[in-house]
Parts: sequence; structure tokens; C-alpha cells
Amino acid sequence: MSLKGKVAIVTGGNSGIGKAITLALAGAGANVAIDYVANEEATEDLEKQVAALGDQAIGVDADVSKVSDLQMLIDRTVKELGRLDVMVNNAGIETRTSVLETTEAQYEKVMEINLKSAFFGTQLAAKQMIAQGSGGRIINISSVHEDWPMPGNAAYCLSKGGMRMLTRQAGLELGPHNITVVGVGPGAVATPINTSTLENPEKMKVLDAAIPLGRMAQPEEIGSVVAFLASDGASYLNATTVFVDAGLMHSSPGL
Ligand SMILES: NC(=O)c1ccc[n+]([C@@H]2O[C@H](COP(=O)([O-])OP(=O)(O)OC[C@H]3O[C@@H](n4cnc5c(N)ncnc54)[C@H](O)[C@@H]3O)[C@@H](O)[C@H]2O)c1
Repeated sequence: MSLKGKVAIVTGGNSGIGKAITLALAGAGANVAIDYVANEEATEDLEKQVAALGDQAIGVDADVSKVSDLQMLIDRTVKELGRLDVMVNNAGIETRTSVLETTEAQYEKVMEINLKSAFFGTQLAAKQMIAQGSGGRIINISSVHEDWPMPGNAAYCLSKGGMRMLTRQAGLELGPHNITVVGVGPGAVATPINTSTLENPEKMKVLDAAIPLGRMAQPEEIGSVVAFLASDGASYLNATTVFVDAGLMHSSPGL
């Protein structure tokens, strides 16, 4: 499962699942561009952790909801790390608002950070990979909520549903360029996005009881799957989503 000589970008790569993906890719030998918008200190610390693994990392301050920032992220990666082989569209937010409550501003923010960023991240990464001429891999960090509605989290579920189709659409269009596109659908993972649940013992009890393994995932359990999906071992996976949810989707519809 070696990624030696490969260069990856991880958006939102300095916290939670993104951080675990950065470390898993570096652990397999990749050099990584860590995109971030907040917490420069955490990014610098992570760069050091990657260097300790014997790989190169650069932190790039880029707001992925802006196409110009995404282009700058790719340009800096190619300039400083030499090429681009793996694009991980991971950055995401949620507003925890229902269909009735969601404001225009909330809707637009979630769609821009979760879906528009993945669409243009895929497009711009693919253009770079096509120019290099040696294929590539695009990994979209979606969610069980690409298939599974969650009352009270409307825009988020819509954005992940869009990512589901992006993975399928782009997989078909980019396959002929030897670029494969794969979605990853985590279940419940212990990261900052879930702080309100993690800090509420009652909510945690209900959630843990609904998960067949009886616990949330640790971010590293998503990172290791992404490292495999980035490797040659996953060369024939395309235009589909791998769910990493311990069976949650099948056990507790509507949770
Ligand atoms: N934690 C879970 O239970 C869970 C489950 C399914 C899917 N996911 C998905 O995993 C991904 C990572 O989430 P996480 O759980 O690690 O939460 P997190 O809050 O730790 O990470 C989200 C990251 O996105 C970054 N980000 C936000 N806006 C950005 C922007 N405009 N430009 C660049 N980066 C931006 C944040 O700074 C942060 O680093 C998200 O797409 C999320 O939807 C998480």
C-alpha cells in the first residue's frame, strides 16, 4: 500500500478526519499539501509530524469555497511538491437546521464549502492530472448522509447527496483519463464537528446504542481507509462510495 513518490492534497487537512487522512497518507509515504482556513499553529504542528514520518508537507491557507483559492492551492502544491496525484475533498461544515429553519445564508455557506468546493476541487485537480498524463485519484469525503436523510440537518444532507452524484458523474467522465473518483461515507466520527454530541452524555448513549460496534469511529479509522483508496490496491474502484460506518446506516434508519 505504498504511496511513495505520490503527492496529495487534503482540504480541511489540519483537524479531525482531515488530519487523520494527512497522517495516514504520509504514513504510506506520500508528500502532502495541508489545506486549512483556521488554526495555523495546528497546521505547523502537523507539518512537523509529517516530516517526522520522513515525508514533506506544506500548509496552504486556502478557502475552498473560492475557486481562485482552490487554483492557488493546486498551483502551490505543484510548485513546491512537484505534482499532484491524489486530491482529497474533505473540508466540510454543517448548520444543524431543518428545511423550515435554514436561511439563505446558511444554505449557501454549506453548499459552497461542502459541494461547490468538491466540484471545483475535482475539476481543477483533474485538469492538473490530465496535464501530467499519468492519471490520478480523487477522493470525496461525503457521509452516510449522502443517502440517508437526517431530520434537522437539511443543507448538510443535500450537500452530501450532491457529492454522491459528483463522485458518480466525475468517475464516468474522468475514467478515460485514468483518473478514478471514489466517495467515502463515514458514519459518526469523534471530531470537532460533533462537539455538541460528544459533550452530551445522553446523546452519546443513544448514538452508541444505535451503532453495531457500540461506539463512534476514531478519525484514524477513516484515514486508514482513505490511504488504501489512494493506493494501487484500489485501482479498479471508481464512481462509487465506500461507507465506513460500522453498519450504522443499515441498523438505525432515521437516527
Ligand atoms: N465527524 C463525523 O461524524 C463525520 C461523518 C461523516 C462525514 N464527515 C465529513 O468529514 C469531513 C471532515 O469533518 P470532521 O468531522 O473532520 O470535522 P472538522 O470540523 O474537524 O473538520 C472540518 C475541516 O474543514 C475545514 N474547513 C471549513 N471551512 C473551510 C473552507 N472554507 N476552506 C477550507 N477548509 C475549511 C475546517 O477548518 C476543518 O479543518 C467533512 O466533510 C464532514 O462532513 C464527518
